[in-house]
Amino acid sequence: MKTSIKLGSSKNISNVFLAPMSGVTDYPFRVIASKFGNPNLICEMIASKELIKQDKSTILRAKKHTNNKDIPFIIQLLGRDPNEILEAAKISVDNGADIIDINMGCPAKKVTSGAAGASLMREPGLAVEIIELLVKKINVPITVKMRLGWDKNNINVIQLAKELESSGISMLTVHGRTRDQFYNGNADWNYIAKIKDSLNVPLIANGDITSIDKAIECLSITKADGIMIGRAALGLPWLPGQVQSYFDTNIEASYLSLNSIYKVIIDHYEMLLSYYGNERGNKISRKHISWYMSKLNTIHDPKEFISELFKQTNPVKVRSMIKSYLTYNKRIALNES
Ligand SMILES: Cc1cc2nc3c(=O)[nH]c(=O)nc-3n(C[C@H](O)[C@H](O)[C@H](O)COP(=O)(O)O)c2cc1C
Repeated sequence: MKTSIKLGSSKNISNVFLAPMSGVTDYPFRVIASKFGNPNLICEMIASKELIKQDKSTILRAKKHTNNKDIPFIIQLLGRDPNEILEAAKISVDNGADIIDINMGCPAKKVTSGAAGASLMREPGLAVEIIELLVKKINVPITVKMRLGWDKNNINVIQLAKELESSGISMLTVHGRTRDQFYNGNADWNYIAKIKDSLNVPLIANGDITSIDKAIECLSITKADGIMIGRAALGLPWLPGQVQSYFDTNIEASYLSLNSIYKVIIDHYEMLLSYYGNERGNKISRKHISWYMSKLNTIHDPKEFISELFKQTNPVKVRSMIKSYLTYNKRIALNES
């Protein structure tokens, strides 16, 4: 099993990636995920315009989560103005970015209406101009993440990928859906295999990888050089690390005990409070705690617990609610009264 990739002349890196996810893969999430193995963790997309303005919350989003020299810090930039993206890329490198990824796949209307994200796939000339400029002026590998195309009648990933490869990208990630599909239907791994046949730079397959088995299946179908995991890591921040460690050792990591999961949830909660402040951190924590609980397969339906949790603003109470909910489930699971 292939376990690493090489971007240009830089050193080898793991071929397992946590996908950039806006509002999810923030600094606290990446720190938590980095405790499990050495997968690459990409920060949520950063709007180039906002980074240039030194917008405080944007700078917070782009904070480096690791000092481990063997793990690259990857910042994903969003934009459409080549000079703006270049400026943002320079700031990112000054802030420690080892790789700059350009977002050409975001389907969100507020992004595509500004003609960025997946819209760039409809403007191949501009996409090439952006990459050529970055490759010329920025001294770290430039990578791109895109979809198959805008819609089923406009699937242009292979042609655009080849042009971007000639422009100097060091790696391409493809989410196997069109922009029009958003997250509907299945990711088309067979199409990703066709892209692989046409490219020389490392290709990372993305879409619907939810487990070690799916990661193996995806690599076997696509023959891609690596895989990227997105939504499956919500509430399972250890999943990319488990997949990476399986690729490296062929040994499947044992399940986390309820106690270990409790510790992860509390660590994550504390980090959100200290990073964003109590009020904002508490609000942000709610979606993460809901994801943790919904993935736990607790015997007791978490709906009621989650709706109570959403009303709670006092961190002391939140901590004790999480503890008693998990203890309750553990006792039922162990058949204790
Ligand atoms: C909440 C959310 C936020 C996302 N934000 C980004 C982003 O900032 N940049 C990006 O390239 N893709 C973004 N994506 C897309 C993911 O990176 C990934 O391509 C997609 O979820 C498919 O992979 P999956 O099936 O493993 O989830 C986002 C997806 C979700 C669900």
